Order: sequence, then structure tokens, then C-alpha cells
Amino acid sequence: MTPPRTLVLVAHPDLESSRITAHLTRAIMDMDHVTVHDLSATYPDRRIDAVREQDLLRGHDTIVWQFPWHWYSVPGVLKEWMDQVLTYGFAYGAGGDALRGKRLQLVLSTGGPEASYAPAGHNRFTMDELLRPLDATAHLCGLDMAQPLILHSAPRVDAGELQRHADRYRELLAPAAAATGR
Ligand SMILES: Cc1cc2nc3c(=O)[nH]c(=O)nc-3n(C[C@H](O)[C@H](O)[C@H](O)COP(=O)(O)O)c2cc1C
Repeated sequence: MTPPRTLVLVAHPDLESSRITAHLTRAIMDMDHVTVHDLSATYPDRRIDAVREQDLLRGHDTIVWQFPWHWYSVPGVLKEWMDQVLTYGFAYGAGGDALRGKRLQLVLSTGGPEASYAPAGHNRFTMDELLRPLDATAHLCGLDMAQPLILHSAPRVDAGELQRHADRYRELLAPAAAATGR
């Protein structure tokens, strides 16, 4: 049986200055069934080729959005990608069923600690609450959203923790896990 094909959209404004996103990207580079696609490197001027992106999406079963949490949301390059690529007639609306039944996996890191994402915490809301716009987007597009993989306190994790997180990420993308939607 061929393993599910996985498309990882890496959305960081400057991967060269990144510690977490860069490490996680390197950790999955050699996986056979995984296509790693760096949006900022591909579109430095933010002029997204929607036709090419839609073809890429059609050719994969699991879509990963891998990004640092910026202002309680996705980085601008991923928002731009969503605006240009998830169009009426492709991702939603009449005839817009190209993504239906595919799986969406969010992989993100936050500066704030986990405890700060709570009603009484510094960030006031839980991650589940803050991720609702992405959950709604997935729902509208017919994507099955998996449990997000989140690394909190990103600037403070040591090398060992970061490597263990990278190992979890690889396990999540492993063919068996991708097939069962674990
Ligand atoms: C422009 C910007 C906005 C950020 N906004 C948030 C935020 O809203 N909440 C949070 O917890 N961390 C925030 N951070 C911290 C980043 O999420 C954190 O530094 C990042 O996940 C580390 O990953 P990297 O090494 O790949 O950049 C922000 C960082 C930047 C540069």
C-alpha cells in the first residue's frame, strides 16, 4: 500500500533567523513520502502561484501548516497563501471539494508558556479558543483537522526538549500515524 503523501507548508517570515521552525524542518526533510515546501523562500515577494499551490494540494493526502505563532495567529505569508489558494470553487462553495476528506495537521510554536493560555493567564484564552478560526477554515474546506502539535515556551526550550519534540513530529508524520489520523 502506498503511504499517504504529506505536504508540509513551512510558513516562517525568515527561516534563517528561526531556531524552532528551522530545526523541525530539518528533522523531517529526509522523510520519503513528505514534501517540504518553504513558502517564504518560494514567494519572497508574496506573489503566490495559486494554480501551482492547488496542484500541490491535489497531489497530497495530509496537509501540514508548520509555523511560529505570530500575534495569536498564523504568520502573514500563510494568511496570504490562504487568501490566494483556498478559493471559491476549489476549497469551498459550488464545486469546491478539492480538499474534502484530506487531513490538516497544525504544527506550531508559541513564545508564551502553556499556562499563559488560560482564562486567568497572561494570554486570556486557551489555544483551543484561539485556534477556532483555523478550525472553522478547515471545516469549511472539508479538511479533517487533527490534534495540533504545539511547542510552548519556544525561546526557553533546551536542545534536548527541542529534539524530543522533533522526534514526536516525525512520529506524527510517519506513514502509519498519517494513515490512521492518530
Ligand atoms: C512578530 C511576532 C509575533 C509573535 N506573537 C506571539 C504571540 O502572539 N504569542 C506567543 O506566545 N508568541 C508570540 N511570538 C513568539 C514566537 O511564537 C516564537 O518566538 C516562535 O514560536 C519561535 O519559533 P522560531 O524560532 O521558528 O521563530 C511572536 C514572535 C514574533 C516575531
